[in-house]
Formats: sequence, structure tokens, C-alpha cells
Amino acid sequence: MGRVAERGEQVAVRRVSREFTLLDVLADDVAGDAHGRRCVRGGKNRALSLVAAPEQGSLGGFIRSERDRSNMSEAAEDDADEAAASARGREVWIEKYRPESLADVKGHENITERLESYISRNDLPHLLFAGPAGTGKTTSAVAIAKQLYGDEWQENFLELNASDQRGIDVVRDRIKSFARSSFGGHDYRIIFLDEADALTSDAQSALRRTMEQFPNNPRFILSCNYSSQIIDPIQSRCAVFRFSPLGDDAVAEQVREIAETEGIEVTDDGVDALVYAADGDMRKAINGLQAAAVMGDVVDEEAVFAITSTARPEEIKEMVDLALGGDFAQARAKLDTLITDIGIAGGDIIDQLHRSVWEFDIPDREAVRLMDRIGEADYRITAGANEQVQLEALLASLALDEE
Ligand SMILES: Nc1ncnc2c1ncn2[C@@H]1O[C@H](COP(=O)(O)OP(=O)(O)O)[C@@H](O)[C@H]1O
Ligand SMILES: [Mg+2]
Repeated sequence: MGRVAERGEQVAVRRVSREFTLLDVLADDVAGDAHGRRCVRGGKNRALSLVAAPEQGSLGGFIRSERDRSNMSEAAEDDADEAAASARGREVWIEKYRPESLADVKGHENITERLESYISRNDLPHLLFAGPAGTGKTTSAVAIAKQLYGDEWQENFLELNASDQRGIDVVRDRIKSFARSSFGGHDYRIIFLDEADALTSDAQSALRRTMEQFPNNPRFILSCNYSSQIIDPIQSRCAVFRFSPLGDDAVAEQVREIAETEGIEVTDDGVDALVYAADGDMRKAINGLQAAAVMGDVVDEEAVFAITSTARPEEIKEMVDLALGGDFAQARAKLDTLITDIGIAGGDIIDQLHRSVWEFDIPDREAVRLMDRIGEADYRITAGANEQVQLEALLASLALDEE
């Protein structure tokens, strides 16, 4: 009887978890775009009058929202938007709590201090922000514009996405018309080029020339995941800032602040779980918090792991222990549970394995062996191999060596 109830409950949780995972994806899309959308929708008329763009279609093309939604009709977007919003009954928190100023950006004090000093001297060099997703690159760029231009920031800040399919020529045209158009009061305007590492090196060379051609000296802020993908001549023209994955304290602090403002109870293990699941990505942490908060009154460890499709570190360890002990069948069953029931992607299991290797209480020799296999599986999965096959092969090789 008790068991049946428990099973029923598990199923219910799982179902909810699926729904919200999907919603989360939707909301993530919507949220990721919200900033861009503000430019497109809110600033449309202003932006149009600024730039001598022939028609709306060509105006928005670089703004992230349009690229990301290129597969969705405008109406479908709005539906998705509303569905996500009404299911939660509130705004998307990553936008609601996007820091307005550099002082509110968590974690990167060394970076924000230097940026503040550029602002106070009103002397901004070209900037290159490098680092993984959800660490505050876009946030910092927008915060700089808000601090420099106040209410007029949208007129003085152009956000483009370098991975726009129409290529560097279109990007350059947009940059040119923005740079040429007249503006009042400020010495320079800012062009924020997201995903600059998506440009080929030829396109980057063209961009480099473009950067130097303008009379009004617009300042560029380039954002990328890996600065090594940016050609040297551009790097040497920019002050480079590395946005490392956010520290546990920074993520925990922001999560607690938001929970308090929203009047949500989060347990300590809930915060720890969010920090673990986010792995340095603040966007993930905040989305996880919001999704878990919809599920119940208290956000605890269980809610977080269910909603974020993250395995508990103990479960990963159990699977590895089984394999190292030679019990391949059980290890494989555990893997199956993680992938099928909890819905974790194979690549994420590899990431979680990688993060946990040195925390597992296993002999160094086995840890080294495991690390070696993780590297192999990671490479193959990245190269396109079947995730489940690779993970099973990893467990098999651990189990084989035992005999
Ligand atoms: N350092 C940070 N401090 C506080 N919130 C952050 C920080 N970094 C990211 N966020 C939150 O995550 C969201 C996404 O951050 P964003 O700056 O767009 O990341 P990216 O580095 O991918 O450009 C923001 O809206 C904000 O709510
Ligand atoms: Mg960004």
C-alpha cells in the first residue's frame, strides 16, 4: 500500500518534472530573448528613426530574439510566451532580476571594478568578454550602457549577434548605419557584438577594419565563449575580460536574494542543489529556482534535482562503484534509470562524472582510470557518437578491468 502510494507519487513528480522541464526550455528561450526583444519591441520606433534601415525586417535581423525565433511565427512566439508566463503566473526571473548596474553583478568584483573605473573616467576602450554562458557578459555590457547613458541607453547601444546567418556583410551594414547616424550629447556609442567567436577569421579581419573606420569612434564590446577563437589583431585592440564560471557563493547569494524577494522558502540543501546543478551558470540556477518554486511551497533538494534533470552526486557515484566492483549489469541498469527516468542527457552525465571524479572516495589509480575513460567518451560524444553506447562502453571498461 505504502509502496503503491510512493510509486504514484514518483510518477506524479516525474510528470510534473517533464512538464516544467519543457516550460523551462520555453521560458529560457523567451527569457534569453527578452533583452533583445526589448530592443526590438520597446525601442522599435526609436531604433527605426536612428538607423536608416529600409524596412523593419532588415532592422531586427541581428538582434538575438529574431535569430533564435527564426523558426517560429510571430504568433507562435507570443503563444509560447504567454503559455510560459501564465503557467508561472509571473515574469521570467532571469530578466526580472538581471542586475541593472555593475555593482549588482555577483561574483566578478575584479572585472566590475575595472569596468567602473572606465565609466567614471568616461573612457571606454573596446572590450572583449570571454566566458561560458550565464556568467554575466550580456548583463555587464547592458549595465555599462545604462550607467553611461541613463535613460538614453537604448539609443546609444546596438546589440548584434555575430552568428546571424546572413553573414558579416549584413552585420557590417548595420554597424555602419548605426555608427554614421547622428546622436546627441555623448562622445561615443556602444556596439555589442554577441557570439563574436561565431565569425570566421576572414569575417573577423573585416570586422577589425570596420572597427577602425568610423568617425564617431563607436566602442565595441565583443562577447564570446573562447577568446582563443578571436583573431589576435582584434584581441590586441580590446581590453580582455574573462568571465569565469561563477563561484558557489555568488550563485548561492543571488538565489537566496531572489527567494527572499519572492517570498519563497528554500532549504539549505535546496540552495546547495541549485548551486550544484547550475555549475557556475547563474541563468541555470535562477531558472531552476523559478521552476522548482512553481512545483511546491518549499524548494528543497528533491524539487531541484527533479526539476533540473540533474542526477544526485550519490547516484553517479553508485553507478561508478557498481562498475568498478565488476557488476556491469547493475551499473548499466543505473545508467538506464538516469537517462530514461530522470531524463538526463548523456553529455550531462559525462559532465557530472567529470566534476565528481575527485570527490568520489575511490583509490587514485581508479580515479585516473575513470578520468581517462571520461575523456575518451567525451571526445566521441562530441564527435557525434551515440551517447548511451559510449556511456555503457565506459562502464564496461571499468567493470572489465576489475576482473
Ligand atoms: N554575475 C551575475 N550576477 C547576477 N546575475 C547574473 C550574473 N550573471 C548572470 N546573471 C543572471 O543570468 C541571466 C543571464 O546572464 P547573461 O548576462 O545574459 O549571461 P551571458 O554571460 O550568457 O551573456 C541574467 O539575466 C541574470 O539574471
Ligand atoms: Mg549573453
